Amino acid sequence: LLVDKGNHRHFMEKEIHEQPEVISHTLAHYLNFAEGTVADFDLPFDFGKIERLAISACGTAYLAGLIGKYWLERYARLPVDIDIASEFRYREMPLPKNSAALFISQSGETADTLASLRYCRGEGVPISAIVNVRESTIARESDGIFPTLAGPEIGVASTKAFTCQLSVLAALTLRAAKARGTISAEEEQSLVRQLSEAPRFASQALKLSSGIEKVARELSHVRHVLYLGRDTNYPLALEGALKLKEISYIHAEGYAAGELKHGPIALIDEQMPVIVIAPHDRIFEKTVSNMQEVAARGGRIILITDEKGAKNATLDTLETVVLPDVPEFVAPIIYALPVQMLAYHTAVIMGTDVDQPRNLAKSVTVE
Ligand code: G6P
Repeated sequence: LLVDKGNHRHFMEKEIHEQPEVISHTLAHYLNFAEGTVADFDLPFDFGKIERLAISACGTAYLAGLIGKYWLERYARLPVDIDIASEFRYREMPLPKNSAALFISQSGETADTLASLRYCRGEGVPISAIVNVRESTIARESDGIFPTLAGPEIGVASTKAFTCQLSVLAALTLRAAKARGTISAEEEQSLVRQLSEAPRFASQALKLSSGIEKVARELSHVRHVLYLGRDTNYPLALEGALKLKEISYIHAEGYAAGELKHGPIALIDEQMPVIVIAPHDRIFEKTVSNMQEVAARGGRIILITDEKGAKNATLDTLETVVLPDVPEFVAPIIYALPVQMLAYHTAVIMGTDVDQPRNLAKSVTVE
């Protein structure tokens, strides 16, 4: 493959830094920025006619799908079932006639995702896929594909493919919302404008490197980390924990912040940092109260927030990573970056094989 690391130490670092550009390419494929509209790209089903969408994927692609569920349900009022592909394929889910299936895969070759696709084929519903490799088996077996324009991803831990999957899901959300009449032309324009700013916000997020390195030095001394978030920050907390596990080998768990008191709070002590992803959104105060519960038990908090959040979070944190204030719709795309960077810098400090972590494969083509 004719891809090199350029000036970067690792492919993962290079791929993290490519994000403003590849997000921009991907969004431009699905949105008409000049008119402020979502483009009229081909769809293998009519969003206005389906009553459910079943999404299925593995690993980081699954977490992109989880964010897609929040978006499609909120903005397009489309009920979404989301499953880990290895569960979906065996759980014999009934798929009503007026539903459609969406698979998400960087490689387009993941065995469990492909098996889920074939299950849906048997159920006779229209099949679509978000893929990065257009010549893949999943792409070939789908009725319609939505390519991510991320370019080849070499690092085993997915980064730019993830934010490009989110970019496609955001565009699909707008198409769905339009077809279902749940957003007005003005709202569409405003959301498209917000997405058009994602590459610029992503560039700003990349500049947080030094603050993130400081947090990474803290993490390099611990054995367990808890990651918390609400709403779309919950899948991001899962992604943050997954990334830490994958490349730094630190045991990390992602939890919905509201679920803290139903278990993980028992683990909190001075030894286990708690990373909280909490932009100043409409449920910010709820997350702040979860952080207070952590602080009251001697837990050390690392807060990933925006300027408003940093001003309004009245509590002591070990470290606060401050992003620019970004509109709620694009926030998941932007907040993915500090989460990736944190795992990356921690792994570098710990001296692991960042691009080829032990026991993992880029593409899992066996069950
Ligand atoms: C492997 C990779 C992950 C990836 C997952 C799904 O576990 O290490 O980075 O998210 O497979 O891969 P896919 O190619 O289907 O997106």
